[in-house]
Amino acid sequence: MANQGTPNHGTPNHGTIERSLPLLSLLSLLVIAIGGLVEIVPLFRIESTVEKVAGIRPYSPLEQMGRNIYTREGCYTCHSQMIRPFRDEVDRYGHYSIAAESMYDHPFLWGSKRTGPDLARVGLKYSNAWHLAHMEDPRSVVPVSIMPAYRQLKDRDIDLDSLPAHLTALRKVGVPYTDTQIKQAIADAKAQASGVDTEGLLARYPKARLGDFDGQPDRVTEMDAIIAYLQVLGTLVDFRDARLEKGAAK
Ligand code: HEC
Repeated sequence: MANQGTPNHGTPNHGTIERSLPLLSLLSLLVIAIGGLVEIVPLFRIESTVEKVAGIRPYSPLEQMGRNIYTREGCYTCHSQMIRPFRDEVDRYGHYSIAAESMYDHPFLWGSKRTGPDLARVGLKYSNAWHLAHMEDPRSVVPVSIMPAYRQLKDRDIDLDSLPAHLTALRKVGVPYTDTQIKQAIADAKAQASGVDTEGLLARYPKARLGDFDGQPDRVTEMDAIIAYLQVLGTLVDFRDARLEKGAAK
């Protein structure tokens, strides 16, 4: 059949394709699928997408519990954890966030709103005591603060027995927890929240912040967990490394 009335743009069967809805749909889908695969497939090989960076390790059991509480309490609705590579952000918050820093995060807590400041590098900015006071009553340390108080976290004990299961679940989605880390999870959480017997903990989780965060040495509470988590944020990578420093607006 001739291409009556339809301009032919060089391809002999162009008219045939344009007039047949099923054929046009099928071929369009095929073209989009090829384009999509070319873009998506390399991302599944995550090892080649996220560059390995020295210092990055999975969260300690106590930090991971703190992260779960951070998620549960919706802290991410007011705080981002993502410093963008712009001069004003880098001047205020420190080195911009790099992909490896959230490679073990399930789920990501980058956030999209900043009612409060970005927390990606809040670790070690304040003392444990400051965080405790701030969480119990934000106005006691920042008089104009509009952040809600979270003093109830101090009354809630962590379900220590659930820790190995948490770590095992994370291992299933790619966080490289070892058998020893899973076996020692309860002991490690107790050690981190008391500052006692911490040798094994520190070998497994370098730079873990120690201490009786909540002022209740005999208990491991949600307050211990959330402060341990806040204190490690952004502290694992040493940004004095020249290669990383390159390009940072300092
Ligand atoms: C309604 C919004 C809101 C929520 C929800 C919220 N915050 Fe805040 N947060 C703020 C504001 C505003 C500030 C700045 C004033 C201040 O320091 O209290 C702040 C400050 C902070 C700071 C100090 C940051 C810095 O660099 O000075 C930390 C740490 C913090 N929040 C942790 C948390 C945690 C953990 C949670 C969840 C348990 C949380 N926030 C929930 C609004 C919020």
